[in-house]
Amino acid sequence: MGIPELDKMLGGGVLEGDSLLIAGPSGTGKSALATQFIAEGLRQGEPGIIAVFEERPNGYTERAADFGLNLKTPQEQGKLEILYLRPLDLSVDETMQELLEAIARVGAKRLAIDSLVGFEMALAPGFRADFRESLYRMIGALTGAGITILSTVEVEDTFTAMPFSHYAISFLTDDLIRLRYVEIDGQLRKVIVVVKMRGGNHSKDIREYVITNKGVVVIHPRQTEFARLTTGLPEHLGREAEAAPEPKATQ
Ligand SMILES: Nc1ncnc2c1ncn2[C@@H]1O[C@H](COP(=O)(O)OP(=O)(O)O)[C@@H](O)[C@H]1O
Ligand SMILES: [Mg+2]
Repeated sequence: MGIPELDKMLGGGVLEGDSLLIAGPSGTGKSALATQFIAEGLRQGEPGIIAVFEERPNGYTERAADFGLNLKTPQEQGKLEILYLRPLDLSVDETMQELLEAIARVGAKRLAIDSLVGFEMALAPGFRADFRESLYRMIGALTGAGITILSTVEVEDTFTAMPFSHYAISFLTDDLIRLRYVEIDGQLRKVIVVVKMRGGNHSKDIREYVITNKGVVVIHPRQTEFARLTTGLPEHLGREAEAAPEPKATQ
């Protein structure tokens, strides 16, 4: 992924030919992670495709530049294509075909789909029923050919539950990362957790991260002073202990 602390959490990184899903609410950095994933691939000589369904053209190149990553040159060199697939009333097959042609043109080793919800929305309503099945087939075919896929999906944080995605995730993904907001010290902060990895040996830690001018940066080690981070409203164990000291033994 090109994010050292995150790659460590993933047990070394995402395996080639894996399908990785990033699930989280708006503004948690799903597109930032997709940008970094593609940029790191290019740095390692792996051409890429970004299929964008939600942002304005140039959004991706501009965000990358903000992060100090150059996505412009690879596009000029034919090593990267950013496909802006706005609502076009396309059929699933036409959209998939466009993607596959782009993948073949650049010889892509990495594909980012941002986002699955946007992808579904871009299709003509009559075609949406076929979406999941076609997507499943396409992801299977591409990962089978050794292409690594990062998809994003927007999920709502209810602050009481931790839903992963409304998609049948076990079918679509080998690896799953969940981003979410948590309230800590009167601030809305962000945490990341690796839910599953095909490779198996991933970190179970819930880690705080920030988005800076270098992109997503995983900061603190595991937050051991808090409990119930997955509720979004964690409990500070230290304060709890101060507020309610252990009762003394009666004499
Ligand atoms: N250069 C930057 N420096 C600091 N924060 C940034 C920068 N670029 C984007 N962000 C932050 O990243 C967040 C949006 O990330 P994004 O990847 O678009 O989220 P998502 O795709 O999950 O909606 C915003 O909160 C924004 O403030
Ligand atoms: Mg986004």
